Amino acid sequence: MKIAVVGTGYVGLVTGTCFAESGNDVTCIDIDQAKIANLREGKLPIYEPGLAELVRSNLSDERLHFTTDLAAAVRPAKLIFLAVGTPSADDGSADLTALWTVAGQLAPHLRPDAIVVTKSTVPVGTAAKLAARLKELTGRDCEVASNPEFLKEGAALEDFMKPDRVVVGVRKPETAAVLRDLYAPFLRTEKPFLSMSPESAEMTKYVANALLATKISFINEVANLCEHMVADINDVRRGIGHDRRIGFAFLFPGPGYGGSCFPKDVRALQAMARSFDVQPRLLAAVDEVNVGQKQVLFAKVHRHFHGNLKGRKIAVWGLAFKPQTDDIRESPALTLIDGLLAAGCVVQVHDPEANAATQRLYGDKLTYSEHPYTALPGADALVVVTDWKEFQRPDLEYMKELMRTPVVFDGRNLYEPAVMQAAGFTYHSIGRQPTIGGTP
Ligand SMILES: NC(=O)c1ccc[n+]([C@@H]2O[C@H](COP(=O)([O-])OP(=O)(O)OC[C@H]3O[C@@H](n4cnc5c(N)ncnc54)[C@H](O)[C@@H]3O)[C@@H](O)[C@H]2O)c1
Repeated sequence: MKIAVVGTGYVGLVTGTCFAESGNDVTCIDIDQAKIANLREGKLPIYEPGLAELVRSNLSDERLHFTTDLAAAVRPAKLIFLAVGTPSADDGSADLTALWTVAGQLAPHLRPDAIVVTKSTVPVGTAAKLAARLKELTGRDCEVASNPEFLKEGAALEDFMKPDRVVVGVRKPETAAVLRDLYAPFLRTEKPFLSMSPESAEMTKYVANALLATKISFINEVANLCEHMVADINDVRRGIGHDRRIGFAFLFPGPGYGGSCFPKDVRALQAMARSFDVQPRLLAAVDEVNVGQKQVLFAKVHRHFHGNLKGRKIAVWGLAFKPQTDDIRESPALTLIDGLLAAGCVVQVHDPEANAATQRLYGDKLTYSEHPYTALPGADALVVVTDWKEFQRPDLEYMKELMRTPVVFDGRNLYEPAVMQAAGFTYHSIGRQPTIGGTP
């Protein structure tokens, strides 16, 4: 099958590469010329485990192509996936500027039997509007389907190749049949292919993200409460997680959710609700709790040093919004860093993959370390923001030697309070009691 994928970001690049890997002839399109030039040479604009190897092998097998020429890629394509960004507009709604631009550009080049598929997360009703717009531009009915993407950055290939489910929103059974055939190689373990209306498919994506965000804000709110109540959120989490109705997934307390999806999708769903005069009270609270949670690490640092932060050296481990990615969009680390810089701290950061993206944002306002330990010399404290595996079992003795004072703020509850205390650290975490270093 000849496929065009418009937008070569986290979603478009993974989608295009995986469809090429299953034997299709795929052309990925982007307006970013430098990105396309690099991709043609097998150089990736993002870090996603395993993706570079797969891009290179499909490039050399000539099943995967990259271009900035939208018309040339669309003309032969049976399926055109739209995977452009849909960021937050000022009022929280999804900004569809890129999607409408692409729709206008591709319309004159569509094959009569082409199917345009929205892979981007788009407001409910977008497929219908897109079909109407394409009809206006071409003078004929154009088939539009919705196919929301559920991949997680950091495990995107695994998620795409072995999805829990594939959701498509279609008006015609024939369209569902084409998409079912396309996805068949990825659904060999009998995972469901769920066909529904475009409206339900579009809504499914927002509801999935909103529910996951709700779980995170819920556990963060009760974690903060645990600190006041001398309860330990880790014990509470275990106490509830074994209940099969509750489970463990997405119930880890932390410094708030970030990334390019949860914050914007929770806000976009609220904007949709308000457009129908429905007050999204729970969604508003989820967002509000999260905005507050992103301040929690800075607040703890501020409290520990009694507001006396000017000139303090603070090391930060983890900049990406989660491990296994270089994506720093809406990362809680940025909220922390902004607070530290505004308070006059010297900030020494390390992330295994996100140093470069962070440097593009902050330039020489921060010191960047290639290794976790090189961020520590002279530090008054370390703040752990992202739960990268390499941070989980550090050499505590060595850390103590490097740091000016052995103080750790653990935003992911990676360490045991008793172990940290025994090692001589003053240790703060989320939803547990702080411990003061020295042998207990
Ligand atoms: N990142 C995720 O984990 C994830 C997961 C599921 C769904 N989504 C959704 O998928 C969509 C894309 O997300 P992303 O993270 O891949 O975005 P991204 O910002 O990484 O990539 C978007 C790409 O589109 C390109 N683009 C913009 N305008 C264009 C145009 N007119 N023509 C061609 N290319 C254009 C940009 O240059 C960029 O490379 C969003 O709607 C997002 O909500 C993202």
